[in-house]
Amino acid sequence: MKNLLVADNISKSFNGKNIVKPVNFTIQQGSIHVIEGKSGSGKSTLLSMLGGMEKPDRGDIRFNGHSLYRLGDNEQSKIRGTSFGYVFQSFHLIPELTVKENIELPLQFNSRGVEKDRVSEIANRLGIASHLHKRPDFLSGGEQQRVAIARAVIMEPQIIFADEPTGNLDQTTTKTVIELLSNLTSSLNIALVVVTHEQHLFTQPHHLYTMEDGSLKKVRQPHA
Ligand SMILES: Nc1ncnc2c1ncn2[C@@H]1O[C@H](COP(=O)(O)OP(=O)(O)OP(=O)(O)O)[C@@H](O)[C@H]1O
Ligand SMILES: [Mg+2]
Repeated sequence: MKNLLVADNISKSFNGKNIVKPVNFTIQQGSIHVIEGKSGSGKSTLLSMLGGMEKPDRGDIRFNGHSLYRLGDNEQSKIRGTSFGYVFQSFHLIPELTVKENIELPLQFNSRGVEKDRVSEIANRLGIASHLHKRPDFLSGGEQQRVAIARAVIMEPQIIFADEPTGNLDQTTTKTVIELLSNLTSSLNIALVVVTHEQHLFTQPHHLYTMEDGSLKKVRQPHA
């Protein structure tokens, strides 16, 4: 299996406090990584560093062999726009745009020629096809998160980073969203790094970690 991203002893402090203690992390093509941990343990900070949004104080992150944070700003934003996808707890949809326009947003980076037809195909798979011309405010929380997932996969990125994607959803909707997210990434061979307390809902083999006071511990890995 190909290593997409390798983080080597990355760490981060804020105001003199070690928020993430040196962490090693390897993401292979199509692999699923689930991170649990108490509030304030440093999960979001770790995810932001892995996802190219927060430069570590120390250590190195190589993406496809290049030191991510040593690339120029343009190259870094190109990677964030085309190779990475993001899903957040609070959806982060743009209220002035329709569902369809929200899903199409990443296509502005479309140097790979992703077909616009893919919007309806992905919307179908996520069960939101009938909402394409509505504005996000008219959708339920679970529907809005499925729109955010569609937007995250539209470019067929190599890795999706999801930070508590079901944190604002009820139990039933949580189950649906985790299943859709993990099935979709598996079928498209996209790696997934997800911060969530819902690890029991993953049916695919996955790596499981807990974050405790800035230290990442591996709990379980998939059998070879
Ligand atoms: N930009 C920042 N400036 C200062 N402190 C920060 C910054 N970002 C995070 N922190 C601090 O780092 C600690 C860990 O934050 P982080 O958001 O990574 O935790 P978390 O595990 O994601 O928590 P939660 O489960 O509540 O989302 C917190 O105490 C937070 O206040
Ligand atoms: Mg967090």
